Amino acid sequence: MSFKNKVAIVTGAASGIGQAICEKLAEVGVNLVLGDTAEDTLKDLAGRLPGQIETVCSDLSKEEGANRLVGAALARFGTIDILVNNAGGGVIRPFLDHTPETLRETLDRNLWTALWCTRTVLPHMLTKKFGRVIFIGADSVRNGLWQHAGYNAAKGGVHGLTTGLAREFAADDITFNTVAPCIVDTPIVVEMRKQHTIPLLEDAIGVVPKGRPAQTAEVASMVRYLASEEAAFVTGQVISVNGGSTML
Ligand SMILES: NC(=O)c1ccc[n+]([C@@H]2O[C@H](COP(=O)([O-])OP(=O)(O)OC[C@H]3O[C@@H](n4cnc5c(N)ncnc54)[C@H](O)[C@@H]3O)[C@@H](O)[C@H]2O)c1
Repeated sequence: MSFKNKVAIVTGAASGIGQAICEKLAEVGVNLVLGDTAEDTLKDLAGRLPGQIETVCSDLSKEEGANRLVGAALARFGTIDILVNNAGGGVIRPFLDHTPETLRETLDRNLWTALWCTRTVLPHMLTKKFGRVIFIGADSVRNGLWQHAGYNAAKGGVHGLTTGLAREFAADDITFNTVAPCIVDTPIVVEMRKQHTIPLLEDAIGVVPKGRPAQTAEVASMVRYLASEEAAFVTGQVISVNGGSTML
């Protein structure tokens, strides 16, 4: 896969899957702009990655935060080829246990970050008639995993963005796809499993025929393929990386 001179923005870069996506893209020479609210971790990661790396600490659920991220990318590299909307994270609980705040937080983290970053980057991709936009969705939208209704409302919105935008911008050579993982072995999940305090985690693994969580690198590999020039004819898809937990 050729990524010569490509520039990617990765949101939610400071943590689990985001870090793995940055590593996968950096190892093939992509220059990166990392966005997150966790400044120290971002800087730490930037110091470990090869290539040219810019970091931006901002709240991407706000239009102003997305503007800062995209502005910094254009100021440093003059172009953006790839946007990975990975920022998110669940507030997982039974639906009636949510408060207005936790519902808002769920939508902010998972849907508004993706909406603002995509809307802000698109005018630039349109001028160059090239773009690869990848969302991280969730397989729980397909299988209705326990306690995921609020989270699925946000991730379902992301899946919906994928199809609508793919049709609208197909002729401009900008593709939009979602990678939808089942439970993933991020450091946070690994730590929680060690403490045996959250039975839901084992339930989430129980629905996976492969019998284990996905590895972060397995999710990142699919993202890297969809970000490549070779994936030009793949658009509007929600692609599960789920060990078979939903099929078709
Ligand atoms: N871990 C899993 O099992 C799993 C499964 C399916 C989908 N996902 C999705 O994959 C993505 C990455 O998951 P993860 O487990 O690595 O999550 P995580 O919670 O470890 O990391 C998410 C990152 O997004 C950042 N973020 C959240 N809101 C933000 C905002 N408003 N502005 C800027 N940054 C913000 C956080 O600071 C954090 O660094 C998320 O979208 C998550 O919903 C995760």
